[in-house]
Amino acid sequence: MPKKTFYITTPLYYVNAQPHIGHSYTQIICDCVSRYKRLKGEDVFFLTGTDEHGQKVLRSAENAGMDTMEFIDGVVLKFKDLWQRLDIRYDDFIRTTEKRHIDTVMKALSVLYEKGDIYQGEYKGFYCTPCETFWPKSQLAGNLCPDCKRGVDEICEKNYFFKISKYQQWLVDYINDNPDFVKPDFRANEVLGYLKEPLNDLCISRPVERLTWGVGMPFTKGHVSYVWFDALINYISACGWADDKKRFESIWPADFHIIGKDILRPHAVYWPIMLYALGIELPKTIFAHGWWLMAGEKISKSKGNIVDPFYMVDKYGKNAYRYFMLREITPGLDGTFSEEAFTTRFNSDLANDIGNLLNRTLTMVEKYFDGVIPGQGDADANAKEIELRLKELPGRVDVFMSELKFNQALMAIWEMINIANKHIEVSKPWQMAKAGNTKNLESVIYRLLKVLEYCVFLLYPFMPDAAMQIAGQLGMELDKEAINIKDIGKILKPGLKIKKADPIFPRIQ
Ligand code: MSP
Repeated sequence: MPKKTFYITTPLYYVNAQPHIGHSYTQIICDCVSRYKRLKGEDVFFLTGTDEHGQKVLRSAENAGMDTMEFIDGVVLKFKDLWQRLDIRYDDFIRTTEKRHIDTVMKALSVLYEKGDIYQGEYKGFYCTPCETFWPKSQLAGNLCPDCKRGVDEICEKNYFFKISKYQQWLVDYINDNPDFVKPDFRANEVLGYLKEPLNDLCISRPVERLTWGVGMPFTKGHVSYVWFDALINYISACGWADDKKRFESIWPADFHIIGKDILRPHAVYWPIMLYALGIELPKTIFAHGWWLMAGEKISKSKGNIVDPFYMVDKYGKNAYRYFMLREITPGLDGTFSEEAFTTRFNSDLANDIGNLLNRTLTMVEKYFDGVIPGQGDADANAKEIELRLKELPGRVDVFMSELKFNQALMAIWEMINIANKHIEVSKPWQMAKAGNTKNLESVIYRLLKVLEYCVFLLYPFMPDAAMQIAGQLGMELDKEAINIKDIGKILKPGLKIKKADPIFPRIQ
């Protein structure tokens, strides 16, 4: 049987406003994981897109005084532009207003309705538009939304409900039996915590008198689908559940749904129940990352503390931006964003550590070997130690990557970079050159170059563009779209001519 495609998804971003750094974080995580898988030669399907229905999006278009679709198209372009600037290589971009998606939502609704899992009832409760979430009075915080602490609207109307309560015990058992289903583990406990309280059936419709901007329902003309019910389905509509069984079977189940912790409940409660009720296998892992905070508060449009990703990328470049996002946070936990922390990390890790290693090594290749990669020379104990550590490095990085521990993978790579920098200080190649000690000089320079070659491959998922620039300066010929880990250590060879260029990470003053 052919190996299943590795399938990874981002949430679908609301198109009520422009993307901010929180959105870019999820995107960079998914790109890093999928590039790592591609580097290992795996088939990857990386899905992203936009969540375009619901009250919140409609209100934003109205506030902008624009036609809804015209407003949304403009925001979608902004998202796509940012993904391009950040080197995000996704395979499909799904928009919930597309026909392929609407047809899939309609099919799912029909199946569940025919099965008797959808019924009509009266919804009495409260609705938070910014969160697009229903709340019973008992769960409000005072009179506010318990999640975002903003005002809610009281609602009393006929609606359709999905019988999620029927599946509550099944879900508890499933989560307990499948420790990889919700990650990190403390998030699985959080979900089990919600499931200690009886689940209310999920209100999955809005009457058309109040909202028409949604997917219609196949069994009524009077309602449209609740935006969350519609949006979650994207994960199966993009891979052919409704119309291409063969394709669906080659991609589904998703290996990772990467989400922010704010949307854990819909993904880890509603979504598995929807799938189970539809008779579809469950995704392997839902991984909830933490938030980027500023002064202790979540970065979000409604808080008005947005950091503009376009500004950051223009100022510092996509490589540094990606590096900062993946290095600064312990995956799963929150992190604090500041431009100061960004520049500190830039100068220490990128300008100093890797930047200096590259520049000093290439300068020495030019000075001592006319810009041509030398032979291996006579390896001393230090050189042998470097070789040993280098051989182990891909395996160490692989373990961290399989657990989505990006910061630790980078720390392991940086350990190697620092060993190489120390090797320069300790072995003093300039003295070797002066003394005409060519074999030892070759040995030092060759090992430094090998460390840089390993960096090209291992840094590729994190900073694909910088990795290719380093490869270019080393004189290595590599195709950005076809780079494969099996070539690590095999491309850089004696006799290659280097192409030293300007520093990739010039120090920020
Ligand atoms: N449309 C829903 C998701 C539907 S998925 C079927 C939604 N969209 S959103 O535009 O609000 O984006 C949510 C995602 O953006 C979060 O889950 C998270 O991935 C990311 N982030 C938004 N703000 C964030 C931070 N401040 N920090 C980190 N990521 C956060 O919810």
